[in-house]
Amino acid sequence: MGIVDLIYKAAEAKKNAYVPYSNFYVGASVLTEDGSVYTGCNIENASFGATNCAERTAIFKAISEGHRKIRMICVVGNETDSFTYPCGICRQVIAEFADKDTRVIIAQNEHNYIVKKIEDLLPAAFTKSDL
Ligand code: THU
Repeated sequence: MGIVDLIYKAAEAKKNAYVPYSNFYVGASVLTEDGSVYTGCNIENASFGATNCAERTAIFKAISEGHRKIRMICVVGNETDSFTYPCGICRQVIAEFADKDTRVIIAQNEHNYIVKKIEDLLPAAFTKSDL
């Protein structure tokens, strides 16, 4: 499962986004250490703060199935004008299950994407090593 496959998976998951308030569709895919793939979409709520981002939906699906390490996570939001980066809460959640080899793929489509390390997105993160 390479980057392009993960982008396709995230784009597919995006179609299931539940976004009656923002109409902003986001999809994500997670590749775990053993090669499993989980996908997710954003799920909004009338109580706006209860909204769950696509990245966290995908991560929580993977974690709840027993996985503990993210090898890659891909997010597809805006597909034309700009790149949709993970929000601050999602960066913190990614950091929890990432290591130095984990890559975050911020994609518009299979041709236009950016590859980042979590350290680039959330420098000096608060992690389990701080506790
Ligand atoms: N959203 C995501 O799902 N992931 C991101 O990386 C950025 C924001 C969602 C949350 C909300 O449903 C909508 O985008 C607008 O903020």
